[in-house]
Amino acid sequence: MNVLRGISVTQVSPGIDMPYFNIADPSFAMQSEAVRRARDESWIAKTNYGYAVLRHAEVGTLLRNTSLSQGSAQWPEHHGVHSGSFYQWWSKNLLVLEGTEHTRIRRLLNPAFSPARARKLKADFQVLANELVASIVERGSIEFVNDFAAPFATRALCIMLGLPEEHWQFIADRADTIGLALSVNINEEIQQIDTAVDELYEFVETLIQERRENPVDDVISTLVTKSSTDSDSLSPEELRNAIVLMLFGGMDTTRNQLGLAIQTFMHNPQEWEKLAADPTLVDRALEEVLRVNPTTRWVTREAVEDFEFNGVHFEKGTTVHLFTASSGTDIEAFPNPEIDISEKDRKAHFTFGGGKHQCIGQHIAKADMSVALATLAAAMTDIQLDGADEWLPDSGNTGPVRLPIRFTKRS
Ligand code: HEM
Repeated sequence: MNVLRGISVTQVSPGIDMPYFNIADPSFAMQSEAVRRARDESWIAKTNYGYAVLRHAEVGTLLRNTSLSQGSAQWPEHHGVHSGSFYQWWSKNLLVLEGTEHTRIRRLLNPAFSPARARKLKADFQVLANELVASIVERGSIEFVNDFAAPFATRALCIMLGLPEEHWQFIADRADTIGLALSVNINEEIQQIDTAVDELYEFVETLIQERRENPVDDVISTLVTKSSTDSDSLSPEELRNAIVLMLFGGMDTTRNQLGLAIQTFMHNPQEWEKLAADPTLVDRALEEVLRVNPTTRWVTREAVEDFEFNGVHFEKGTTVHLFTASSGTDIEAFPNPEIDISEKDRKAHFTFGGGKHQCIGQHIAKADMSVALATLAAAMTDIQLDGADEWLPDSGNTGPVRLPIRFTKRS
C-alpha cells in the first residue's frame, strides 16, 4: 500500500491500483476530502470488507446487477456474532431474505406501505408535528434529537402501525439499542442488543394477541386477521419479525435523517429560508437532504457468483458497499452538487437503495419527514448549534446522538 495525493492506494491485481479505505475505522469519514479525491480518481475503492463503489452511474447499475444480492445477511457473522436472539431475527428478516421467500413476504406487506396509504397518513402526521413544534417553539433552545426527532419518528411509526403512541419511548429505546448492531462494535454490544430484541418480541407478541382478540382498523389487525384466515399470508413468526423490522428500520432511520436535515439546513440557511417562504418546495427540499446528507451512508451487496464489471473481477462472496453520499454528490451526475431546493431536474439518489430490496417504507418516510420539515421551517429561523453535538460514526447508518440547537421563533 502507498499514499498518492493524500489517498491510500492498494494494488488489487497486477497493474490495477485502487484507492483503499478502512471503513471500519471509527475515524473514517464519508463526507471527507479523501473520499471526494478517490472518487475523482476511480469509480471504485478497495476496503477492509471488499469494495466500495463511489460514483453515481456505477452505483445505479450495480444496484440492479443480478450477480449481487442484498449483502447485509453476513454482517453479524463478519463481526463474530453467530447466535442469539438478534442473530436469529436478523437471519429471517425481509432485508436479508432472497428469492421466493422475499418476494412472498414483501408482496404481503406491500399494501401497508403504498403511496396512497402514505398520503392518507399525512393529516395525522401533521397533528403530531404541530403538537411537538408547539412544545418547543417558545423555548428558543432545545436538544433536537430528544425533543423532536426521536418522539416524532417513533410516534409517526406508532400512527402508521396503529400502536398506542404512549409506548413511543419504550420502542425508541429498544430500536436504538438494536441500531447498535449496525455499527462495527456489534460484538461488544451484543448482550444488550439481544435483550432489546427479546423485549420487542414480547411487546409485539402481546400486541398481535390483543389485535387477534379485538381487531381494529389498523395495519397490524389487517395482517393478523389475514394471517389467521388466509393460507396466502404471513405465519405468526413472519408477522412478528416483520413488525420488529418496521419498528427498528423505520424509527432509527427517520430520526437520524431528521437530525441530518437540520444539520444540512444549519449549514445552508438560505435554503431553509426558501423552504419557509414556499412550503410547496418541501418534497424537493427533502429529496435534496436525502441526496447530500443521507443517514444510510451505504447500501450493502454481496456477489452471489464470480463476475466482471468495468474491468474489475468480483469473486463470489465479496462484499460491495455502494456509497450513497459519494454517489449523490458525484459531479458527473450533479454538475452543481451543493444543495439547491429550487433545482428541478435532479437525477435520483440511492439513499433508499434500489432493485428488489429498495426501502419498502420510503413513501411513509417521505410523508412524515416532509410534514416535519415544513412545520419546523414555518416555526423556526436562524438555527445555530448550541453546545457540544455528538454523532454516530460517519459510516453505515449515521446521524446525531445529541444535537443541541438554538433558534428564533419565526414571526
Ligand atoms: C429516512 C428514512 C429511511 C431510509 C433512508 C431507509 C433506507 C433503507 C435502505 C437503504 C434499505 C435497503 C435497500 C437496499 O438494500 O436496496 C431499506 C430497506 C428497508 N426499509 Fe427503509 N429506510 C427508511 C425508512 C423506513 C421506514 C419508515 C420503514 C418502515 C416503516 C422502513 C422499512 C424498511 C424495510 C422493511 C426494508 C427491507 C426491504 C426489503 O429488503 O425488501 N424504512 N431502507
